[in-house]
Amino acid sequence: MKIFIDSADIKEIKTVAELGVCDGVTTNPTLIAKSGQDFKTVLSEIINIIPGPISAEVISLDSKGMIKEAEELVKLANSIVIKLPLTEEGLKACKYLNGKGIKTNVTLCFSVGQALLAAKAGATYVSPFIGRLDDIGEDGVNLIKEIKALYSANKVETKILAASIRSPRHVTDSFISGADVVTLPFKILLQLYTHPLTEKGLNQFIEDWKNSGQRSILAE
Ligand code: E4P
Repeated sequence: MKIFIDSADIKEIKTVAELGVCDGVTTNPTLIAKSGQDFKTVLSEIINIIPGPISAEVISLDSKGMIKEAEELVKLANSIVIKLPLTEEGLKACKYLNGKGIKTNVTLCFSVGQALLAAKAGATYVSPFIGRLDDIGEDGVNLIKEIKALYSANKVETKILAASIRSPRHVTDSFISGADVVTLPFKILLQLYTHPLTEKGLNQFIEDWKNSGQRSILAE
């Protein structure tokens, strides 16, 4: 049960690293554009903060270009995982990179059939985008269940990385449905541990403690 942060914002990534619950990072071209920094510079900064897998997405649309970019990106660190689109060219590149021992994350997965092909191409991770499926009236979490059933029945090693997370419920439902990893935006991570009853309860405990006249826990 691994948690990745879906971000290219260094401040957010540092905060999450301090929290101690972050096992890796996923980025995409949109998140990199939002960071306003150079791609390799951001990746180098992330590498220094998070020791776990860091997904970096190629932008070529043909397999040859994807492979060239991948070979350049993996020079940055062993923790780099190459993110490839779930297209014919992406699958070709995935097969090739897998043969070279380079880790891959096949992204933009919206169907169980696509997940099947990602596994056949030797993807290390497949990323079903559950929020974007919900956005068009489909059931994103159900896709995780279907992929899990397919992979378990066929002893597939590709890991299911639930992506496009919109709520804390998406996170827990994805894990319950068999996701190996969930990558979540910073905002959702905060929502995951924040609860009004926790805050209310804590305030009450502190208030009662103060009113009881107890001494400090620390030795005086
Ligand atoms: C995953 O790797 C993607 O970066 C991400 O989860 C996409 O999420 P979005 O649908 O919120 O853009």
